[in-house]
Amino acid sequence: MDTAALQSSWQIVAKSGDDVPLYFYSHLFLSHPELRELFPISMSAQRDKLVGALGRIVSQVDQLGEVAPFIAQLGREHRRFSVVAEHYGAVGASLLATLKHFLGPAWTPELAADWSAAYGLIAQTMVQAAEEAADTTPAWWSAEVTAIERRTLDVSVLRLEPHERYDYRAGQSFAMEVPQRPRQWRYFSPANAPRRDGSIELHVQLVDGGQVSTSIVRSTRVGDTVRLGAPIGTALTLPDDFAGDLLMVAGGTGLAPLRAVLEQLDRRWQVTGEAPRTHLFHGVRLPWSLYERELLSQLAHRPWFDYTEAVSDDASYPGPRGPVGTVAARGGNWRGRTALVCGSPAMVEHTVAKLVEAGISREHIRFESFGAAGDVNQSQQEATGKVMGSE
Ligand SMILES: Cc1cc2nc3c(=O)[nH]c(=O)nc-3n(C[C@H](O)[C@H](O)[C@H](O)COP(=O)(O)OP(=O)(O)OC[C@H]3O[C@@H](n4cnc5c(N)ncnc54)[C@H](O)[C@@H]3O)c2cc1C
Ligand code: HEM
Repeated sequence: MDTAALQSSWQIVAKSGDDVPLYFYSHLFLSHPELRELFPISMSAQRDKLVGALGRIVSQVDQLGEVAPFIAQLGREHRRFSVVAEHYGAVGASLLATLKHFLGPAWTPELAADWSAAYGLIAQTMVQAAEEAADTTPAWWSAEVTAIERRTLDVSVLRLEPHERYDYRAGQSFAMEVPQRPRQWRYFSPANAPRRDGSIELHVQLVDGGQVSTSIVRSTRVGDTVRLGAPIGTALTLPDDFAGDLLMVAGGTGLAPLRAVLEQLDRRWQVTGEAPRTHLFHGVRLPWSLYERELLSQLAHRPWFDYTEAVSDDASYPGPRGPVGTVAARGGNWRGRTALVCGSPAMVEHTVAKLVEAGISREHIRFESFGAAGDVNQSQQEATGKVMGSE
């Protein structure tokens, strides 16, 4: 199989931008109208999650050895979209038709055979993993919203109680679907370490123009039933006996998974009397968005924990001002510490660059970006591929 040809042909196709998912979905839904109901009601090319990832993943089939765990996870996760083995043929055919359309004369019989074989390998890995998982785990978990607190204008804190046991680790995330937005799954991160009563706290930031976050903050109600996907991610998780000191940098609700890790560390401190020395920087644009100040200020009485707030867009703020990455980088000597960074993609990129400048080596920086859902798969793939951020 000529994998260089797969990648270069995908790069050519991807140049057509939003026309690619538009063509793919038109082909898929015309040839298999029954598949339309698996996808969100409102779909636009800009919000496409499947096609871009499909082309990228299939064209990188030569890395299947390294990313097989990620592909298997993707296959298991497709159970929450109600995808079954029979659907893979239709998606494969629409992928090939899309490639043929955009490549024109460059679509040779050899290239067609290679794409077909590569898709087959990925599809087989996904289907096999999904079928194996069906024996042991549900396609999704349902949970009841038992409390909602509008903490600030744009952040709500939700309490969920899963109907069945839901195991996860502090620092992980899961996809969630709310009843107001059927089939529009978005990732959220538990803000607490697993509790005996199983309840989960989420911090949800209202994103301007965001379909699901707006719905959650404005119209989700106590008593609603939501669905959860399997927990994912290892970039921010720590073993219970983690040794070494920590620097945590959070932007907005990027605080959530780090707060879960803090809870894990605090439990350890309460039992053993020792925990890693940890400094958390929480950055927001405006001071009233410091939605977890009370709890974090209380925790700062612990001998192992320090907490600094940073505000970027209020010139009159009396405390540390500026992007949280800049404030954190100049806030101490962090050499030798492991950094955990979480927030928007721009915040994470900026913070990682500043921490490297401040002398923390890249392999000691772990991060999770709260980008759009399709991106999570890329970062998961990178993590699984040990590019960065994984254990
Ligand atoms: C692993 C992971 C964990 C996450 N955990 C949390 C969490 O605990 N709490 C939380 O509030 N959010 C979290 N997110 C972000 C969340 O999944 C959604 O992306 C976010 O709620 C926006 O969804 P939406 O449907 O409202 O916006 P969409 O309708 O999908 O997008 C609207 C516009 O906003 C942009 N956009 C999308 N997400 C963001 C963002 N986070 N910041 C700025 N602009 C954005 C899009 O590019 C688009 O232009 C997480 C994301 C990932 C990948
Ligand atoms: C090689 C095969 C495939 C790959 C690599 C792939 C990849 C992906 C990825 C990465 C996502 C984004 C997941 C997320 O947001 O968490 C996705 C979403 C999705 N996929 Fe697939 N997929 C494949 C096959 C299929 C098949 C056969 C179907 C069946 C119709 C399907 C239906 C969906 C649906 C419904 C979504 C959600 C779309 C949305 O929210 O807009 N996928 N896929």
